[in-house]
Amino acid sequence: MPSAEPAGAAAITVTGVEHAYGDVVALGPIDLTVPTGEFLVLVGASGCGKSTLLRLIAGFERPTTGTVLTDGGSPVPGRGAGLVFQQPRLFPWKTVGGNIELALRYAGQPADGVDRLLTRVGLPGVANRRTWQISGGQQQRVAIARALAADRPLLLLDEPFAALDALTRERLQEDLRTVSTTTGRTSVFVTHSVDEAVFLGSRVVVLSPRPGRIVLDLPIDLPRTDITPNDLRGLPEYAALRAEIGHAVRNEGASA
Ligand SMILES: Nc1ncnc2c1ncn2[C@@H]1O[C@H](COP(=O)(O)OP(=O)(O)OP(=O)(O)O)[C@@H](O)[C@H]1O
Ligand SMILES: [Mg+2]
Repeated sequence: MPSAEPAGAAAITVTGVEHAYGDVVALGPIDLTVPTGEFLVLVGASGCGKSTLLRLIAGFERPTTGTVLTDGGSPVPGRGAGLVFQQPRLFPWKTVGGNIELALRYAGQPADGVDRLLTRVGLPGVANRRTWQISGGQQQRVAIARALAADRPLLLLDEPFAALDALTRERLQEDLRTVSTTTGRTSVFVTHSVDEAVFLGSRVVVLSPRPGRIVLDLPIDLPRTDITPNDLRGLPEYAALRAEIGHAVRNEGASA
C-alpha cells in the first residue's frame, strides 16, 4: 500500500518549486509527489513549463526556489533517468544496435542486451541497419529502447510522439503502455494530447498557462492488462476522463 510507505519511498518529490529564466517565471509554485511505478502524464498549453519541470526532474536545471528529489536525493543528469525527446536524436554513424550498445556500455551493462531491448519495443532483427534505413516511427522506438537500456529507475519522455503520423503514434502509444505496465518503470510523459494522456497515464496532471501550476491532478483508474486498446478507448470511464481533462485544459487555455 503506497500510503503505508515512508515519505522517502517516493520516486520523485517536488516541493515548493518555482523556476525562472531571468525575469521570466516559467513554472510554479509546484508541489508534486510521484510514487514508484506511477505513469504520470503532464498536460498543458505551450510554454506553461512542462519541459522545464522535466528538465528539473532530470537534473539538467536546478530550481530557482524549492527542491526536487529523485529517489530521495538531488537528481544527477544522466544518472537516474532515461530520456526520450520529440526527435529521436540517434547517432547516424552508428547502426541501430550500435546506438543501443553505446547506452548499455555507458550504463555499465553487458552489450548482449541489444536484441532483447529491440524486441521489447517491437523491432526485432533491425540491429544491423543504419538509423537512416528505418522510418521515423522506428527511430523513435529505438530511442525508447535506448532509454530503457540504461535501466534507470525513471523514464522521462518529452512529447516523444508529436512528430509522428497518427497511425504510427497510436501503435507506439499501445506499445509504450504495454512496456510501462510490464517494466513497472516510474515515468513522466509530457504531451499536448488529452487522448494520449488518458490512454497512457496512471495519473494525469494538468498545468495552467505560464507560470505552470497544477490545476487538475487526476488518478486514471483504467485497466492496464487484459484489454485491447479499442475496448479501452470504448469504455464510458475513458470518455468521462477525456472530457474532464479536456475541460481543464481548455478552461486554463482560455484564461491565458
Ligand atoms: N532556456 C530558456 N531561457 C529563457 N526562457 C526559457 C528557456 N526555456 C524555456 N523558457 C521559457 O519558459 C517558459 C516555459 O518553457 P517550457 O519549454 O518549459 O514550456 P513547455 O510547456 O514545455 O512548452 P511546449 O509545450 O511549447 O514545449 C516559456 O515561456 C519559455 O519561453
Ligand atoms: Mg516543451
